[in-house]
Amino acid sequence: MIPAGFIQDLLARTDIGEVVGRHVELKRSGANLMGLCPFHAEKSASFSVSPARQFYHCFGCGASGDAIRFLMEHLGLSFVEAVRELAGRAGLAVPEDRVDEAERTRRQTLRERRLSLRDVLDRAQAFYRAQLRESPRAVAYLKGRGLTGAIAARFGIGYAPPGWRTLAGVFPRYDDPLLAEAGLVRQADDGDAGTAAEPADGRDGRGRYDWFRDRVMFPIRSVSGEVIGFGGRVLDDAKPKYLNSPETPLFSKGRELYGLFEARQAIREAGHALVVEGYMDVVALAQHGLGQAVATLGTACTGDHVGKLFRFTDTVVFAFDGDAAGRRAASRALEASLPHLNDLRTVRFLFLPSEHDPDSFVRAHGRDAFLGAVERAVALSAQIVAQARGDADLATAEGRARFLAQARPLWSALPEGLLKRQLLDVLAGEAGWTGDRLAAAWQTVPAASRERTTRPDSPRRDAPGAARPRPSARAAPAVPADLALAMLLRRSDWWDALPADDHALLHALGGEHAEVVAWLERQITEHGPLSWGALAEALANVPWGASWRRRLEADPAADGYRLDDLHVVLQRLHLDQLKRQAAGLATGATADDETLERLRELHARMAALRAGGGAAGRAQAVEGSHARDFSEPV
Ligand code: UTP
Ligand code: MN
Repeated sequence: MIPAGFIQDLLARTDIGEVVGRHVELKRSGANLMGLCPFHAEKSASFSVSPARQFYHCFGCGASGDAIRFLMEHLGLSFVEAVRELAGRAGLAVPEDRVDEAERTRRQTLRERRLSLRDVLDRAQAFYRAQLRESPRAVAYLKGRGLTGAIAARFGIGYAPPGWRTLAGVFPRYDDPLLAEAGLVRQADDGDAGTAAEPADGRDGRGRYDWFRDRVMFPIRSVSGEVIGFGGRVLDDAKPKYLNSPETPLFSKGRELYGLFEARQAIREAGHALVVEGYMDVVALAQHGLGQAVATLGTACTGDHVGKLFRFTDTVVFAFDGDAAGRRAASRALEASLPHLNDLRTVRFLFLPSEHDPDSFVRAHGRDAFLGAVERAVALSAQIVAQARGDADLATAEGRARFLAQARPLWSALPEGLLKRQLLDVLAGEAGWTGDRLAAAWQTVPAASRERTTRPDSPRRDAPGAARPRPSARAAPAVPADLALAMLLRRSDWWDALPADDHALLHALGGEHAEVVAWLERQITEHGPLSWGALAEALANVPWGASWRRRLEADPAADGYRLDDLHVVLQRLHLDQLKRQAAGLATGATADDETLERLRELHARMAALRAGGGAAGRAQAVEGSHARDFSEPV
């Protein structure tokens, strides 16, 4: 796609010493630059960069290449991403074939928007950091949580002062729409919690005010170190405890991991990455010499998160609180991980005592105790068995059948390989079967019935037996999830019209659906909404692309999709999801207060969805045209 001439040009204009120097501390040594190799753990410098030859080479591990290669290896970027990154810095536009004028303009606009957002966030970051030094209260808070100045500096921790319009003194134009887009200021009528206690005289006539006030600020950085968002914590027990930046063209919660930029080197050295839940967990672990921790920022761990981590290490260790919520989070992390595993990569699950999170644990018991817990973390196979067993009683035939039914979608999500074959034996053994017998059973019994037993966000890959055809649903949109994705592929300009909870719902679909959604969002983030023609072409580059393309081209209704119909389909999906969540809770073994409360909440939301909105009415209207597309949920 990218002409070779351009690549040469780009490399000629790039200073490799500067590119590498942003990530590795380099010292001049004759004509070359030398530093500690970022690709293997070492104590003395054997990594050399030659500006004359525009090349790097490590005498220790043999890693070598040009600036593009460096970004690919070090940041885990794809070739095209690395080229874009360098071109952006060199002020060059990447020539792309087969892109029309309008598309080029759209991409240019998005590029500029990202650059301006970066700029705004950078300035805010510099301001917040400087403010921390001015606030003895904020410094005392951080000290009280056991942090030193060095660690605060490493993570760029800052402080947002209490005023309602402090940023007006930082940016030349307080009404710059970029400030709102970056999530730094809000409009008073946005209807958010932040406005509740707001003094009327604290705003300008247009109702703008700083979003982060009197909070300790954690900058969220991309893997290449740019500030892409913030998390802000109150200094006391006020609610909400944390505020976060909104999703922007730079920041997506489902993709970014807090602390990854800071953790890369430690991850390589430790041989594993630790995944925790919160900002403070990451920072506290680093304070105790465990720099390899990253956080998912309170959201469920996604496949994108896991995929990103596996670019840096073969072992990912998830740390969870030892309570029911921790177990739920673990099952989601397991499901997100399965498609990314192979015979060399693995995940482990660390369950902390229920009174602790990683921050409090490492402060109470220290680094070695934490590392001991990492050593003893539950292995992948054991976690799959535990999760599949749930409350099934393996002493009975019914229990064993249920165990196998619950194990099957997990096992199916694993890519082919020795691990998968071994796991089959493990699962069979648990149920008192032989591996061969189980393989035979799972290859002949149609998989359809199992889908009902899986949770909505469970992976739904086809079982092995490569010869088995994909379900016939693949031929034309037949289930709501398929239809929703078909509509969005056909009309990617609708994506941005959807509210955040629709986006979240789509990302939570699981399996191939989630892959399609993640891919589509990425396309839109990178290129802006694409015409169906352009998307259809891009689909050729992804493994599952051809079947979706065929399906859309074969669907006579595809030309007539309407946004209203999409809303209806999404409403159906929301309902299905709530129903499944409620069913999952209701059959769960634990009937604690928390579960009951959550059940009540789910039922209330279901009732509201059924009764509410014009969408229900619209559902009636399109039921005729699209009735065949829905499979009734159970
Ligand atoms: P926790 O409530 O476990 O907080 O939320 P924490 O990280 O232990 O924070 P401390 O120790 O009380 O300071 C875990 C993560 O969930 C997100 C944040 O990313 C947080 O780090 N979260 C939590 C929010 O986004 N908003 C909230 O109000 C609470
Ligand atoms: Mn905590």
